[in-house]
Amino acid sequence: MKFLPVTPKSLEQAAKILQSGGLVAFPTETVYGLGADAYNPQAVAKIFEAKGRPKFDPLIVHISAIETLKNVAALSLLDKETNKKLFLLAENFWPGPLSIILPKNEKIPGLVTSGLSTVAVRFPDHEAALHLISSSGGAVAAPSANPFGSLSPTRAEHVRNSMGEKVDMILDGGQTRIGLESTVLDITGGKIKILRPGGTPKEAIEKLAGKIKNYEPKSNDAFASPGQLKNHYAPKTKLFTLTQDEIIQKPYEQDCAFLFFDGYARDAWLTERGKAVNKEEIIRVLSETGDLLEAAACLFETLHELDNLNIFRIFAQLAPKQGLGEAINDRLIRGAAA
Ligand code: TXA
Ligand code: MG
Repeated sequence: MKFLPVTPKSLEQAAKILQSGGLVAFPTETVYGLGADAYNPQAVAKIFEAKGRPKFDPLIVHISAIETLKNVAALSLLDKETNKKLFLLAENFWPGPLSIILPKNEKIPGLVTSGLSTVAVRFPDHEAALHLISSSGGAVAAPSANPFGSLSPTRAEHVRNSMGEKVDMILDGGQTRIGLESTVLDITGGKIKILRPGGTPKEAIEKLAGKIKNYEPKSNDAFASPGQLKNHYAPKTKLFTLTQDEIIQKPYEQDCAFLFFDGYARDAWLTERGKAVNKEEIIRVLSETGDLLEAAACLFETLHELDNLNIFRIFAQLAPKQGLGEAINDRLIRGAAA
């Protein structure tokens, strides 16, 4: 396995690996992806094997130009209204953390979409990713580059630690900017539906496309979005979610970590505890000022870090239920269900 910083030369090598059917882990603006040539079923099969991912869980196809849409999706199957919606969304959110479910083009092997007649398409907002995609054939199938069910990688080291020997190359582009996966949006059924909350907040989509039904994480919602199993995104350490009030009242427990959403809750908790706590290293705050962007960006990062402390439990405060808070809470609740 090669572990290389992103440079013109390493990108060229990575593109060659993809073209010859290999696997490359690469940075995007959301999380690191584990890429294979989306048109090559043998290469795509390696993704499922490397991740230990069940075959019923479809992959996202990454493109680097709008023109490629017609090669991966069957746009002629969209009615006029949906077609309009698609291009409105694409114009406003691409490149960016939004995956759109569309009818599948026959050029995309069934393995990519787990036999579904639809395909998830994403145009990432990351220079190195776009370069890699465009120089390797134009369509890269990529799930998050982590073993199935576990925490998503926001650094190249996370990929190396969890799947190092299973990939041909890891491109190191530093910490990812958004830190949470893309929002998965289904526009095929007449109404717009969020299948997975993510880096593009619901409110932003609603401004353009009208009211969307509230996303509610259901247990094992295997039909809507096969990958959205209840116990996804789990650290090895047992995780518990608490509301702001609950975490402030939660007594200190030895060898447990407290992950606060903001500095306000941390301060209130410390005040309640008085001088009883001195183990600074197990207290973390996602954003001192309660900034959702900042909190999202370091969520997985912080969970990875806490997971390596060999502690007993992680108590995590839920974020406010708006904007990126919805995606943060989705990941925390699923991580806690493992
Ligand atoms: O930000 C992201 O989306 C990252 C980066 C690497 O692009 N990718 C990612 O992929 O999170 P993955 O495989 O970990 O999650 C893909 C999600 C799964 O929940 C899967 O079920 C859903 O997208 N999905 C993919 N194709 C689908 C389809 N045709 N219909 C419904 N859901 C689909
Ligand atoms: Mg994933």
